[in-house]
Parts: sequence; C-alpha cells; structure tokens
Amino acid sequence: MKLSWSLPVHLTSFLLLASQSVSEEDFTDICEDYGTDHFYVMNSTGKSDMIENKNAEHTVSCLLYQTDELNCSWSFHRPKKEMVMSLSIRVCNYEELVNSITHKSVERTGSFSLIVKSKSMEHVNLSFNASLQDEWTVYYHSFEKKRLTVLPSPNVSALIKDGHLQISWEIPGMQHPERCYDFQLDMGDQENPKNFTGKLSHTEPNADPSFTYRLRMRTKMSDLCAEYSPWSEWGPIFTLEKANKISPRVIVLIFFGVPMILLPVLLLLRHQRLSKLLFPPIPRPPQKYQYFLEKNDPLSFSCPTPLAKQEEEITEVEDVEPSSDNKNASEG
Ligand SMILES: *[C@@H]1O[C@H](CO)[C@@H](O)[C@H](O)[C@H]1NC(C)=O
Ligand SMILES: *[C@@H]1O[C@H](CO)[C@@H](O)[C@H](O)[C@H]1NC(C)=O
Ligand SMILES: *[C@@H]1O[C@H](CO)[C@@H](O)[C@H](O)[C@H]1NC(C)=O
Ligand SMILES: *[C@@H]1O[C@H](CO)[C@@H](O)[C@H](O)[C@H]1NC(C)=O
Ligand SMILES: *[C@@H]1O[C@H](CO)[C@@H](O)[C@H](O)[C@H]1NC(C)=O
Ligand SMILES: *[C@@H]1O[C@H](CO)[C@@H](O)[C@H](O)[C@H]1NC(C)=O
Repeated sequence: MKLSWSLPVHLTSFLLLASQSVSEEDFTDICEDYGTDHFYVMNSTGKSDMIENKNAEHTVSCLLYQTDELNCSWSFHRPKKEMVMSLSIRVCNYEELVNSITHKSVERTGSFSLIVKSKSMEHVNLSFNASLQDEWTVYYHSFEKKRLTVLPSPNVSALIKDGHLQISWEIPGMQHPERCYDFQLDMGDQENPKNFTGKLSHTEPNADPSFTYRLRMRTKMSDLCAEYSPWSEWGPIFTLEKANKISPRVIVLIFFGVPMILLPVLLLLRHQRLSKLLFPPIPRPPQKYQYFLEKNDPLSFSCPTPLAKQEEEITEVEDVEPSSDNKNASEG
C-alpha cells in the first residue's frame, strides 16, 4: 500500500532540497530543514496532525552505530489498551527503498535492532499503526541518518607550548564541515565539560607542567546541521605526563637559593668591615657611672646616698675690739 500524505510545507521543502545534490553553500539550509522531531499522526477519520516526539505519551528514538547496527526503541501510552499496534520500518536511500520490515504486532514499549548498509542509507521511516476494528491511528516518524548516527569518538592530544596547553583533536573519517560538530572536552572534571562548536583545537592558558593532564572528548552533530543528534562515546583518555624537566618551582628555588648561600660567604669575607658597620663599637661608660647603670632602683639613682657625711665647717669670726694696751701703746 502506497502512502500519499499531505506533508507540512517545511517537510515538503526539505524533501525537494534533499533530492538535489548537496553542495557546500546550501548545506546549512538543508540542515535546518532536517531539524524536526515530530510525529506525523493520521487517523481513520482522515484527520492528520503533527505532535512532538519525546513526551510521556509517545516517544521513539533510534541510534545508528558505527557497526551499522540500527537500534530503535519506543513507548506509546496514548492509544487505547485494546488496540493492536503494528510497526513498519523502511530504510531509504533518498527515493530508493533499501529495506523494509513489518512487525504485525508489537508491544506498547519495545525496541528492535537491525543491521543496515549505512553507506547506502539516507533516512529511516517508522510507522506505528494502532488499530481496533475500523478505527486506527498511525504515528509516522522519519529519521535522517545524521540524526541517528553515533559518531566515532574523537581522539584528543595535547602538548605544552609557551606555557599554554595546546589541545587538538580529530574525528576519524570526518564527513562534514567543522561547523557541523559539537565537542565536549573532559579535563578530569566530568561535572563541567568544556563545550566547543566547529573547531578542532583549543588553547588552555597558563598550563601547569607539574600537573598530569588527562583529557577525553566526545562529539555530536551541531544544531546547525542536525538537531537532536546523539553524543558519541567518550574517546580514549589522553594523558599528558607532568614534565620531568626543571619545573618553575626549582628555578625559583635556584634563583633565590643561590644568593642565600652566597650571602654568608660574602659576609665572612667582609666580616671586618661589615661587623663594624653593623655593630659599631659601643663607648664604655666611665667607672663612676657604672654603679648607676647597673642599679635599677630609680630612687637610689636620683638621690644617691652620700658616701660620707660632709663635716660642717664653721668659721667663727670674732669681732675683737682693739685693746687698751694697744691704744695706750699707740698713745704712748
Ligand atoms: C483523529 O485525529 C483528530 C486530529 O488529531 C482528532 O481530533 C480525533 O479525535 C481523532 N480521532 C480518532 C478516532 O482517533
Ligand atoms: C542494540 O540493541 C540490541 C538489542 O536490544 C542490543 O543487544 C545491542 O547491544 C544494542 N547495540 C548497541 C550498540 O547498544
Ligand atoms: C520516508 O519518509 C520520507 C519523508 O521524510 C518520504 O519522502 C519517503 O517517501 C518515505 N519513504 C517510504 C518508503 O515511505
Ligand atoms: C492501520 O491498520 C489498519 C488495520 O490493519 C488498516 O486498516 C489501516 O489501513 C492502517 N493504516 C495505515 C495508514 O496503514
Ligand atoms: C588519533 O588517533 C590516530 C590513530 O591512533 C592518530 O593517527 C592520530 O594522530 C590521532 N590524532 C590526534 C589528534 O590525537
Ligand atoms: C557544556 O554543555 C553542557 C550541556 O550541553 C552543560 O551542562 C555544561 O555546563 C557546559 N559546560 C560549560 C563549561 O559551559
């Protein structure tokens, strides 16, 4: 049975573009049109609708691994319990139908695994048909390969140059322009990976050469080229061993340590001159002050006890009247 649905305008335009050969210029335009994650729903009343994928009522997700293994899982809660659900998988390479599988009855929640020729696959269409007598609802979803593909893990390498940590990475067999890739760099702090888009190198300033760096990366298609694409596995851990060369700490030690050793030597050589400069000769106090300097009693310092009681010298002046004898003698 051939399905001929009236697809929404943006889906139709993407189909028209997809049929053209993809050149570098119009790459972005096409990529943007691919970015839908909706079910196209149609039922027996002839009504159709677009509903968002990934919610509590209905969700389907597919991953295409590097091993060409296509794994899809789904979960539907909206259709009535009595309804029988069938699944039809169509693997397409543009207009060409490459593979088609139909499961007459599937569970509401389930998964399937299929080996596909990923080189000759461009998208995969899934349609789930929940039916009960004449009543049916079909959930249709088309996944473009880019959105399914779990990319190969990037390998990362790093070196310290001019004091900075220069990190570079690559994806084995990279097929799209750099701007089509998101990267996450884990530098040992898994909680907070660094995010990059469209670049294959990064310089982390002020690297610590005494630190052992352990780096790993993962990648996915950027929103620019394929929305909702899955993350790759984390790549191998790249270990940048701490440098065994002279670390800055040692240089600092030498820088300050050598003068510290030389200084005492110089001091010894110039001991005489320096000791005079550093410890100028203290004048020796005369003997008579030493007593005061040594004694701490401030009273005795201010009021020294006299060594001996000074004898009072009383000079008596006698007022002697001239004697009559002398008068007489002078008269006489
Ligand atoms: C059919 O789809 C329309 C639009 O989504 C919806 O309103 C209607 O209830 C559906 N009918 C049945 C029987 O599922
Ligand atoms: C794909 O699904 C199958 C079956 O559920 C499972 O055994 C297999 O490990 C899955 N593949 C990967 C790569 O996870
Ligand atoms: C798969 O879906 C696309 C729309 O995305 C459509 O053009 C194509 O015809 C479908 N293929 C099959 C086999 O149904
Ligand atoms: C869904 O399944 C029912 C019952 O098998 C069938 O009558 C109906 O045509 C199917 N619808 C589509 C779109 O395939
Ligand atoms: C990635 O790994 C391959 C193979 O081991 C190697 O040749 C290549 O140089 C590595 N690239 C980087 C950026 O580490
Ligand atoms: C990188 O992105 C992830 C989610 O995409 C986010 O959790 C994380 O915080 C981001 N890292 C930085 C350093 O912004």
